[in-house]
Parts: sequence; C-alpha cells; structure tokens
Amino acid sequence: MNTQIWDLRKYEENVVKYPKLNEIKETLLNDGLVAIPTETVYGLGANARNEHAVRKIYEAKGRPSDNPLIVHIHQREQLEEFVDGIDERVSKLMDVFWPGPISFILPLKTGYLCEKVTGGLNSIAVRMPSHKIGRALLQYIDEPIAAPSANLSGRPSPTKFDHVFQDLNGKVDGIVNGDQSEEGLESTVLDCTQYPFRIARPGSITTSMIEQVLPGSIQKANYFEKDKPIAPGMKYKHYSPDTPLTIVENLTHKIDNNEKWNDVVFIFPISMKYLLPENAQFIPLCDDEQDIKGANHNLYSVLHSIDSSNDIKHAYIYSFEKKDQSEAIMNRMLKAAGNEVIEGDEL
Ligand code: TXA
Ligand code: MG
Repeated sequence: MNTQIWDLRKYEENVVKYPKLNEIKETLLNDGLVAIPTETVYGLGANARNEHAVRKIYEAKGRPSDNPLIVHIHQREQLEEFVDGIDERVSKLMDVFWPGPISFILPLKTGYLCEKVTGGLNSIAVRMPSHKIGRALLQYIDEPIAAPSANLSGRPSPTKFDHVFQDLNGKVDGIVNGDQSEEGLESTVLDCTQYPFRIARPGSITTSMIEQVLPGSIQKANYFEKDKPIAPGMKYKHYSPDTPLTIVENLTHKIDNNEKWNDVVFIFPISMKYLLPENAQFIPLCDDEQDIKGANHNLYSVLHSIDSSNDIKHAYIYSFEKKDQSEAIMNRMLKAAGNEVIEGDEL
C-alpha cells in the first residue's frame, strides 16, 4: 500500500489553508486509516462508524481484537449519539480537563458506532484532544474517530512523525506530520461507569488533579492487575523496546569507569550525569530529578532511539521518586523494562 504523507506543520495556526485537507477527510470517510498527531501520542484514526475501517486498525497494528479503542471528538454534542447519559460529576471534569489528555469511559448507547470499536463492551472511552492540528482535523471531518496509539502493538507509542513512519509506512493510507507530541505519554483513562471513579491508566492528569475538582471521587486501582484489569489493554505486553532495559533506583555514588560499560547507555536527568561512568553512553531523560514533564515528553522518543542504535546492548534508566505526578511515567517505564529494577548500589 502506498502511504500518503501530509505535512501540516506549517499550517498549525490555520489548518483549513492546507491545500490537501479534503484528501485527508475523504480518506477517513472512505474506509481509510490516517495517523494523526495529538498532544499525548500520535493516533491511528478510522471512522468509528465504519466497521471495515475499524477492523483495519486492528490488522495494521496487530492488535488483539478484545482491546477496545478510544473515540476522539471535537465537541461534546457528538457524545449524545453514542453515550448513554453523562453524569454531572463527569461533566464537571470535562469542563476542567477538555480538550486535553484525559479519556473518560462512559456507558455506551448502542447502534451508532460499529461494535468493533468497543470489542463488545457496554462502555466506550472518549477523548477530546487539544493538539492544534489534531483538533482542527477532527473539527473538519466532524465524525467520531476511533484512534489507538499509532504504533505496532507492543512497541513504544509514537510521539514523532518518524516513529509512526517506521511502524506503519505501507500499512496505512496516510500519515499527518504535526511535529512532536507535547505531553509524550498516553492520556489518563478514567473509568466513570461506577462511582467512585477508577483510573484505568495513569497519565498527566493525575489523581490529585481530579480530586481537586471532585474530592473523594477516585478509588485506587492496581494498574498491574493481570486477571481483571479495568482497561483490557493493560494486560498485554506493552511499550517494550528490543534493547534490554533496567530501572535504577537510588543511585547516589559515582560509578567508576569499567569496560563493561562500553556498550551500555544510561538514560538519566542531565543533573545526574556526573555520577555516571564516562565511557558509557548517555541520553538525557530530562533536566533534573524534578523534571517529570520533560521526562514524559522524551521517554518514548528515547526508547525508540536506543533500538535504532546498533552499539547499545543494555540500557539503564532513572527511577523517579514515587509521587502522584510520577505515577504515569513509572507505569510506562516498568512495563517497558518488564519490571526489571535494581538499586544504584548494585552497579
Ligand atoms: O492518549 C491517548 O489516549 C492515545 C491518543 C491517540 O489519543 N490513544 C491511546 O489509545 O493510547 P490506545 O488504544 O493505545 O489505548 C487505549 C486504552 C487501552 O488500554 C484500552 O484497553 C482502554 O484504553 N480502553 C478503551 N476503551 C475502553 C473501555 N470501554 N473500557 C475499558 N478500557 C478501555
Ligand atoms: Mg497504545
């Protein structure tokens, strides 16, 4: 398949001026798959009302068919067609956090979207992205767009056009280039089908940010629950680079040079570089130990880059202190590392 590339970076402020805008719309409305930028990660979009198009998403990604998709909208009125009532409390959260990096799981009203979108569940995950280009495209197309992250299943999510191109060129109809995703981690997924609500996947909208709006509204969930996870996607192997990855906790001493570090990379805050062996490679994760936002933004890009380098046999990555804001990045890192964690003392 020939994959069209649509470079919209120069049209960020005025997407409707992009000369081939209609081509993107037509592709999506005629069964096509188009990868689009969002502020979290790139999504692989298809018309959520078209069974054939949605089936192609699962094929292109190699995604298990019981893993439901998030439906992307540009205005709340769209939900009336396929969501069975919106609770006042959910509405309040939407007022505060939308458009933005949070998806709500809501009761599904059947008959409007095709069944494949939800994998047979009676609930539906919805999100209104804030990315200028992504949002303008959703407005222009004006149909609910189902979009999982635009990577092959089990690979790190794509935060740059190049990542999408690497995984999906030749497998999808088109890719929109919209620069690097600002947030860098997938949205928070909040299950609102029961109260208190539960976080099915942590993201940059944290428990305490939600509780600030609605005190006492979140019930703690275990994201590593394999038997009965809230989000079916959480039970699959995820975000794994091919290079073995180990998380390093509590590194406080300087690691001496040694030839065993020759083909090793350390992915650490710049502020900690002085503790690392000079003969190892270094990739900055973020500015310093407090810079979680920077690390979120960079993580997937770093994971992609270690795989494309031939001379890296092992990667060690910095572990953030456990707190509300670091929950999302530590959740992704632990999955990428297959839970491999060591103490700094052991290095
Ligand atoms: O930031 C994001 O959310 C990105 C961008 C493209 O919007 N999308 C994304 O989609 O990360 P995906 O498919 O990679 O992850 C969706 C997650 C999966 O873990 C899935 O199991 C869960 O949301 N999910 C979707 N619908 C659900 C539902 N009805 N009930 C429970 N979990 C659901
Ligand atoms: Mg994904």
